[in-house]
Amino acid sequence: MTEQHLEPQDPAALAGADSVAHWTERYGHALMDTFGAPQRVLVRGEGPYVWDADGFRYLDLLGGIAVNSLGHAHPTLTAAISAQLGTLGHISNFFASPTQIALAERLLAVADAPEGSRVFLTNSGTEANEAAFKMARRNSEGPGGARRTRVLALEGAFHGRSMGALALTSKAAYREPFEPLPGGVEFLPFGDTAALEAAFADGRGDTVAAVFLEPIQGEAGVLPLPPGYLVRARELTEAHGALLILDEVQTGMGRTGAWLAHQHPHLGGGIRPDVVTLAKGLGGGFPVGAVLAYGERAATLLGRGQHGTTFGGNPVASAAALATIGVIERDGLLAHVTDLGAWWRGAIAALGHPLVAEVRGEGLLIAVQLTAPVAAEVASRALGEGFVVNPCTPSTIRLAPPFVLTREQAATFTDFLAALPHDLGVTA
Ligand SMILES: Cc1ncc(COP(=O)(O)O)c(C=O)c1O
Repeated sequence: MTEQHLEPQDPAALAGADSVAHWTERYGHALMDTFGAPQRVLVRGEGPYVWDADGFRYLDLLGGIAVNSLGHAHPTLTAAISAQLGTLGHISNFFASPTQIALAERLLAVADAPEGSRVFLTNSGTEANEAAFKMARRNSEGPGGARRTRVLALEGAFHGRSMGALALTSKAAYREPFEPLPGGVEFLPFGDTAALEAAFADGRGDTVAAVFLEPIQGEAGVLPLPPGYLVRARELTEAHGALLILDEVQTGMGRTGAWLAHQHPHLGGGIRPDVVTLAKGLGGGFPVGAVLAYGERAATLLGRGQHGTTFGGNPVASAAALATIGVIERDGLLAHVTDLGAWWRGAIAALGHPLVAEVRGEGLLIAVQLTAPVAAEVASRALGEGFVVNPCTPSTIRLAPPFVLTREQAATFTDFLAALPHDLGVTA
């Protein structure tokens, strides 16, 4: 039992009707096996901690994969959701609600979107990207009658699992079982400005409908686009009438210490995209996504009847997102994310541990790059000692904790890393 495991475990409970083992067995009989066996069955959370069915406590340094920005069971978020559900829980999109309208206005404000910009609300990241892909398809007429059929994405990109978003996702193992996927997508080498320029060269620039980019690739291992790449992408898309679509599903809504990652001058260079997609942290744990269309041209690509969703704009989801944004502002969490992230990355790097090759990231989206492909082993040991982390590549540990994490709590994981055997790569 380590320091993280504060609650005494009852040996009888471990094999009992409410144990992790029992629930895991039932999971296997009831749920499709798309995710593999669950690592634990969790029963409650509070702040940055979660507890499993056996009573063990874990410091949640993954935050539901960059979702639980306010931690678990945040009182303001819980109250906002409960109040909205008790007042008006769901309506159809034949009607509107004040929370939906207020959320769209808040999003346009935090995005610093110009006059004429508009929002489409979704329920997830893949749906937001699906809508953005449809916007790209509507950007179909080039000069001189050219057809804009090409959509450029990057190697390593992850944009979701529905068919359109999957077509934009580069990993062959995710894509190939589901082909044929929507066509026209081309994958360019990550961060390679010359390759991007070449895709627009030789008179082919007017056939590009959109360029889809993550400012920092999350699933690929927290890889920021190199400085200047987004600026060049903006120049090329603008010159040729293509849309610049930024997938900020993982990086948006404060995760990097700015509302949107591309708002960091060193990442975005001051550019304004045509479209930004959001989800994950937007609702602080409640499922909600959004597409922000910047300016009238982008905002009118999807006309009446050309897109829709039953739950998008749901009043409860909108209230959750408004409450999450409100707490981030009220509690100064953007500054905290920036400060804590910088301090923590520095502290881990300063360990000089031979297993740690590099620590990178922005705000509280952090990668600990290992010197050997032992990320799964490190994550498994971490879980055993009460930390939830994610081996997002064979040699990368991803951290995306709640914004309410304190230095003291973060430091407990630094200590865990410090104590890792130096020869883990050799013995694993
Ligand atoms: C950058 C990015 N885009 C899209 C998605 C898909 O979002 P969702 O899982 O909500 O469909 C993810 C999820 O990991 C993501 O990281």
